[in-house]
Amino acid sequence: MNTGTEHAFPVKEKILQLSNLPSLAVVKYQLIKALNKDNTSIEDIAEIIRHDQALASRVIAVANSAFLGYPGKINAIEQAVMLLGFDLVRSISLAASIFNVFASQYGNFKQMWAHSYVVANIAASLCNKVSGKDRSSCFLAGLLHDIGRLVLFRVISDTIMDTEVHDLIAMKGEALIQAETKLFQCTHMQAAQWFLDNLCFPEEIIVPITTHHSVRREEPHKRSADIIFLAEGMSDLICPQVVHDGQWTDEHQKMFLENGLVEKDIDDLKAIVEKEQSAIATFFDL
Ligand SMILES: [Fe+2]
Ligand SMILES: [Fe+2]
Repeated sequence: MNTGTEHAFPVKEKILQLSNLPSLAVVKYQLIKALNKDNTSIEDIAEIIRHDQALASRVIAVANSAFLGYPGKINAIEQAVMLLGFDLVRSISLAASIFNVFASQYGNFKQMWAHSYVVANIAASLCNKVSGKDRSSCFLAGLLHDIGRLVLFRVISDTIMDTEVHDLIAMKGEALIQAETKLFQCTHMQAAQWFLDNLCFPEEIIVPITTHHSVRREEPHKRSADIIFLAEGMSDLICPQVVHDGQWTDEHQKMFLENGLVEKDIDDLKAIVEKEQSAIATFFDL
């Protein structure tokens, strides 16, 4: 990769301007509205996805994930809300709306969506195993954990070569973070923080996303940060066939054992991924 090329431009300002895109302005409006209401309703979900049938079918497909553990077939948003709960369905809708905005950018984008989907599902499974933490907020943090990568590609698309983009997409762990810092003077965690802050996402979602490549040492939101950190690392073991940026390290191993997890937990998750493999490939058109 051409790491000698440095792009001196105001990345942060460009990221802040992204929320002016009409499609993201709609997401922001819906998010604020939903968060400020005591009794959110199924109509709020319908409003988020009404403008886009493809989005509705994506939400339903994710809701049918074997990770989430509902054996029956979910065919409609209303049914998804009933079975999965409002918060989880809203999470899926919001993430899918945001991904849609970046959808046509790069071919490998689908791989990144698939990786995010895997991490979200591992995070939800970990919530069930090790934590009483809210599964839907961990699921949403998992779905959006690498949104900073897409945001960076979006704002630098006219100043970076396609080969550099493809090299970056294939990188993972510390090597990726160093390359981003060299090229953009920021990481995909910082990019996500600026982007999601500006869309008024709550701190409980933003914090785990901004620490997903390192162990968060302090409160608040340490438990959910640990879950997203572990899920990102476990994607390297559980689903290496989907392009990913997670890398299993000694720190992951240590946290894994501290949480009382055992090899069998990895085998269980691998079995689910294998069962889901064809669905993931079809859904994301891999
Ligand atoms: Fe990442
Ligand atoms: Fe990732």
